[in-house]
Amino acid sequence: MPNVTTQQHFRVPHALSLLIAHNKRAQALKFLDKLIGSDYGIFGADSQILNDRQAALQFKIDLLLEWNRYSEALAWLCLETEINPNNVYAQALKERLKRSLHIDDLHRRQFEPVRSGRKCAADGGAFNWEGVAGMRELKLTLENDIIMPFLEPDIYNKYRVPLPNGILFYGPPGCGKTFIARKLATILNYNFIELKPSDLASIYVHGTQGKIGDIFREAGGEQQTILFFDEIDAFIPSREQGIGHHYSAEVNEFLVQMNECAKRGVMVIGATNYLSHVDGAVKRPGRFDKKIYIGTPDLEARVEAIKLYMKDRPQEKIEYFSILSDKDLYSYADLELVVNEAARKALRYREPVTREYLEAAFGAISASITKQMITEMSKE
Ligand SMILES: Nc1ncnc2c1ncn2[C@@H]1O[C@H](COP(=O)(O)OP(=O)(O)OP(=O)(O)O)[C@@H](O)[C@H]1O
Ligand SMILES: [Mg+2]
Repeated sequence: MPNVTTQQHFRVPHALSLLIAHNKRAQALKFLDKLIGSDYGIFGADSQILNDRQAALQFKIDLLLEWNRYSEALAWLCLETEINPNNVYAQALKERLKRSLHIDDLHRRQFEPVRSGRKCAADGGAFNWEGVAGMRELKLTLENDIIMPFLEPDIYNKYRVPLPNGILFYGPPGCGKTFIARKLATILNYNFIELKPSDLASIYVHGTQGKIGDIFREAGGEQQTILFFDEIDAFIPSREQGIGHHYSAEVNEFLVQMNECAKRGVMVIGATNYLSHVDGAVKRPGRFDKKIYIGTPDLEARVEAIKLYMKDRPQEKIEYFSILSDKDLYSYADLELVVNEAARKALRYREPVTREYLEAAFGAISASITKQMITEMSKE
């Protein structure tokens, strides 16, 4: 069994994220090149350094794809797979890119983008992150761990890297947990079944654990399904904290159903504000194998989000960076509210939305998230 590696986690340095946000592409790539270093391939170096370099290289490839520079991305992918043959994600992406660029078919050398403006024309909609601002790292993780195994099952099977059974999104409100779960289902073209705490009464009437089984069985039909439990702490509350002792039988049934449900074509996604409120047993591997923190949008994400929300509204040219630089406690939901408010005011005077309207709206709508919430809600 090869020692399979997947994508390394890359913490984007602040200086780099500013370059990207300002669209200074050449400088951003140069910055990354420094991190990657010209001696990237020298083995025997400290393993942490190698990991960091690999992560930087993968990040560079992702940027090149995003900027439609496919041939360069492919060249770097070839290098990565050469250096690190066990990087299954890079292998899969390389194959996919080769196919999209028709590298194996020189007669049909027309370029079908793998990811144009985060759109994938090649295979009907995959990688279509349109309408999803920011979340750069999250998109990469989902592409790497979920979307790519789905699109390139042969390579993943060969390496015996399974699809995750379940993913748990956690973090402060309004930052995109529900939004991204729905988006993922669209991208994968999975069925999507959403359960909210308001459905709880009908499922968890004591002594009717059978209903939980029914839900999973129904999901595990012909088509692959994402079973999404919003506010999952209501369904499987932490028994350690004594919150969920009324539901013991139901929680147990839930755990049984979750075991290896991916093999039955069901991927479970749960969302919660507090990871500690969810029963510890579901967090074990084989149930929720992945736990992903979704936090407040960074500056780059805020700019992207505001531009998205401003789209198609009458507006003056606005320089967003200075307005948004100190808004790091605003969630996506808050930003959307601010833009709606600014537009409403502008409409009243039949004027385009200007910087002044936006600033006034920011004055009227304060951030819904506090530093303390972030501290509490980011706890693993
Ligand atoms: N990446 C994004 N790009 C653009 N808009 C986004 C993004 N993420 C979230 N939004 C917007 O913010 C709104 C709130 O997001 P969502 O409902 O997913 O938050 P949540 O994390 O599930 O919050 P809660 O914890 O309250 O359930 C969404 O309806 C969507 O319009
Ligand atoms: Mg939600």
